[in-house]
Amino acid sequence: MTIYEVGPRDGLQNESAVVPVEVKREFIGRLAEAGLTTIEATSFVHPKWVPQLADAGELLESLPRVPGVRYPVLVPNERGLDRALEQGVTDIAIFGSATESFAQRNLNRTVESQFEMFAPVVERALAHGMRVRAYVSMCFADPWEGPVAPEQVARVGRRLLDLGCYELSLGDTIGVGTPRHVEALLDAFAEAGVGPDRLAVHFHDTYGQALANTLTAIKRGITVVDSSAGGIGGCPYAKSATGNLATEDLVWMLDGLGVETGVDVRSLAATSLWLAEILGRPSPSRVVQALAKEI
Ligand code: HMG
Ligand code: MG
Repeated sequence: MTIYEVGPRDGLQNESAVVPVEVKREFIGRLAEAGLTTIEATSFVHPKWVPQLADAGELLESLPRVPGVRYPVLVPNERGLDRALEQGVTDIAIFGSATESFAQRNLNRTVESQFEMFAPVVERALAHGMRVRAYVSMCFADPWEGPVAPEQVARVGRRLLDLGCYELSLGDTIGVGTPRHVEALLDAFAEAGVGPDRLAVHFHDTYGQALANTLTAIKRGITVVDSSAGGIGGCPYAKSATGNLATEDLVWMLDGLGVETGVDVRSLAATSLWLAEILGRPSPSRVVQALAKEI
C-alpha cells in the first residue's frame, strides 16, 4: 500500500496565515523521518491564487532530499512547469476538474480548455523524464452543480490519463461521498477501461466518510491512498472543503489490517501535534487526539 502524503500542499494551501518556509521544510523532513516515501511538497501555481505556496521555489531550493523519497509538486501550466524544472523537480501532478464550475473557479478554464493547458505540460514533462500524476476534482458532487455523474468523471479522468499520466487520483474535494458512490465511480472507470492499478483515491473528511470510503476503495483493489498528516487541509477555491483523510487515521486502520506501510504512526502524530501548536488549532484527526495522551 502506498500512502501519498499531501499535508504540505493540500494541508497547508488553505491556511490564511503564511507558514514560514523553515516550518514547511521541517514538516516535510519529519514526514520523511516517520517513514512516508511520497510527500507532495508544494504547488507551482500562480502566487496570487494561492499565496501560502508562493514560496515554492525557495522551499524546494533549500529542501534536503532523503534518498528513496519522492517530492511531487502541483503544476497547472507551462509557466508552472518552467518553475518546477528550475528546481530539478522529477515528479509533478496536473489537476483537472470534472465540472465546469470548478474548472472555472480553480483554473480559470472550461473543462475542455483545461486539456489544452495540460497537454503541453505533460508532453514536455515526459520529455524531461518526469513522472506525471493527474488529479480529477469534484468526483462526487460540486458545491455549485450538485451531484456529479460517475460517467462524467470517468470521461474527464480517462482523458487526463491519456495525456500520458501514470496515475489518476480521484478527488472528493468537498468530502460528501459515501461507500456506495465510491463503488459506482470505480465501476464507471472500469467501464471506461481504467482499472484500480491506474487509480488513487483522495478523500476529504468533511462528513466523516473518508476512512469508510478508503476501505471500500481498497477492497476494490486500490493500492494508492492520498492523506494529510493530522487531517489538515482544504481547497481555497471550494469553501465547503475541509481537511483530507488524516494520515494517522489511515495508518492506524492499515496497521490493524496487517497492511504494511512503513509509517510509524506515533512519530507522525508527534509531528501533527507540533504543527497544530504552530497553526494554533488542534488536529481534527481522532488518532492524533487519542495518541496525544501518550506522546
Ligand atoms: P490565469 O489567470 O488564467 O493565468 O490562471 P494566465 O495563464 O492567464 O496567466 C496570467 C499571468 O499569471 C501571467 O503573467 C502568467 O505568467 C502568470 P503576466 O504575463 O500577466 O505577467 N502565471 C503564473 N505565474 C506563476 N506560476 C504559474 C503561473 N501561471 C500563470 N504557474 C492558473 C490560471 C492555472 C495559473 C490559476 O488558475 C492557478 O494558479 N490556479 C491554481 C489554483 C489552485 O492551486 N488550487 C488548489 C489546488 S487544486 C486542489 O486542491 C484539489 C486537489 O487537492 C484534489 C481534490 O481535492 O479534489 C488537487
Ligand atoms: Mg484535495
